[in-house]
Amino acid sequence: MSPPVRLTAAPPPTARVRAPGKVNLSLRVGPVQDDGYHPLVSVFQAVALYEEVTATQARPGSGLSLTVDGPQAVLVPTDETNLAWRAARLLAEHTGVEADVALHVRKGVPVAGGMAGGSADAAAALVACDALWETGVPRSDLLDLAARLGSDVPFCVLGHTAVGTGRGHLLTPAMTRGEFHWVFGASERGLSTPAVYARFDELTQGGAAPVGLDDDTALMQALRAGDPTALGAALHNDLQEAALSLRPELGRTLDIARETGALGAIVSGSGPTVAALARSRQHALAIAATWTAEGAADAVWTTTGPAGGARQLT
Ligand code: C5P
Repeated sequence: MSPPVRLTAAPPPTARVRAPGKVNLSLRVGPVQDDGYHPLVSVFQAVALYEEVTATQARPGSGLSLTVDGPQAVLVPTDETNLAWRAARLLAEHTGVEADVALHVRKGVPVAGGMAGGSADAAAALVACDALWETGVPRSDLLDLAARLGSDVPFCVLGHTAVGTGRGHLLTPAMTRGEFHWVFGASERGLSTPAVYARFDELTQGGAAPVGLDDDTALMQALRAGDPTALGAALHNDLQEAALSLRPELGRTLDIARETGALGAIVSGSGPTVAALARSRQHALAIAATWTAEGAADAVWTTTGPAGGARQLT
């Protein structure tokens, strides 16, 4: 007698995509506009800390669902306010597909830390649903949809190093050489991006100087040369003072990094994560160990940049 044959249903189609977090090597912020946004010139670098989104086809009519895991998962909403959810919904509307999909987000970027973790979720969800639904949306349309979800989302799709203008969403790739070693010190309490911009408006009394591309010549040269010392000296963040006025303790985190020989140390984006540029992987580990020993950060990561953009894994 032949052994019984066990029939199992084929697993539902799925697409797994990762997208990187970022650090702003330079963030120059102009005066607030009527729409509430600030014109930016920013040099973004993607780093090898990733958000991973798995999109799994769900039963027809079951709609969208979302789960999250990772060390800070409890801080992340799992409803329609989540950027990954909004990304799936937007792509479904754009393409006329029924959004019957289960999304699972694995967090690898600090939450509300100024490193575009939520934006990376949106970027990964867009690319994952596009692959799952085989919508074949042209990349330029995908980047337009990304910009509607948030100013940093297009960069999380693109990755590497790029200059962003407009709200930060109009991107031009930048030439870089080699690999840079980063240390990130995150805080358990995130900072709200709008709150940091509002403090920036208070500090500049709405009269920030207009921003220009010429301000980052030394930084672009350092990137082209692959010169971490020159890059460290050229790091710049117009939001740093605003973030420090909301979280004065970050000043100590910056000081400790500099005392430990960091080539440069800045608040990442709107913070409160602090980014330190190290000479080498060993040096990055030494800065991370010092931050931990001094209690200067609630969590530390060492990593490298630039990293690639949103990429399908399976
Ligand atoms: O575009 P996104 O939704 O990520 O922006 C979040 C908030 O950050 C905005 O509501 C705005 O307060 C602020 N922002 C800004 N200028 C930018 C980008 C963001 O004022 N260029």
